[in-house]
Amino acid sequence: SDYQAFSSYIISWYRANPRDLPWRNTRDPYKIWLSEIILQQTRVAQGLPYYYAFSEAYPTVKELALAPEAEVLRLWQGLGYYSRARNLHACAKHIWFDMAGLFPNTYEDLLVLKGVGSYTAAAISSFAFDEVRAVVDGNVYRVLARYFGIGTDIASGKAKREFETLANELIPKDNPSEFNQSMMDFGARQCTPKNPNCGNCPLQLSCFAFQKDLVKELPVKINK
Ligand code: ADE
Repeated sequence: SDYQAFSSYIISWYRANPRDLPWRNTRDPYKIWLSEIILQQTRVAQGLPYYYAFSEAYPTVKELALAPEAEVLRLWQGLGYYSRARNLHACAKHIWFDMAGLFPNTYEDLLVLKGVGSYTAAAISSFAFDEVRAVVDGNVYRVLARYFGIGTDIASGKAKREFETLANELIPKDNPSEFNQSMMDFGARQCTPKNPNCGNCPLQLSCFAFQKDLVKELPVKINK
């Protein structure tokens, strides 16, 4: 398949189906980090009010670093997975007190932060700093497995390397941020696990799974 065609289709879909999300109107790594930690185990609709509450209470890493932990945990109430809130607060203190308030500004330095894994580091480094790092998660596995017809068991270690390599070949060097946002939204809203919207999908003509009637079969997940 033609990699460039895929990337431009995905980005065109995204431009035609935009969601006006507040963390998309900023390049502030602190705000983007905040949004990505909230969205790690939380849907956008549920996370939005928390993002607004945290941005208002703690507009910069300084206010978060200086806040009492009990207050941070109280603001987090209802979101669950409280280790996210504890890591958020600990990272803010680390950045404020040990790093002179300078937010890490590369993928590798972001990865060092507690609670920031490869997906979150790729999201922050691409959105805030235009670093060419593809986000790869279950949504991305599904979209790529279907479109390119990849039958590798997504629960295997081989799959992680395979999909990461492919996603990093697909991400346009001159537009990594928009590509990553597009993949997130396309996986969440168009190429969904159940009842994907294939009838209304601009990628259907070149989508392996759609053409071979294998949408229900891909991605392959073998339960062990
Ligand atoms: N899920 C994780 N990160 C996201 C983002 N930046 N926008 C929408 N959904 C997301």
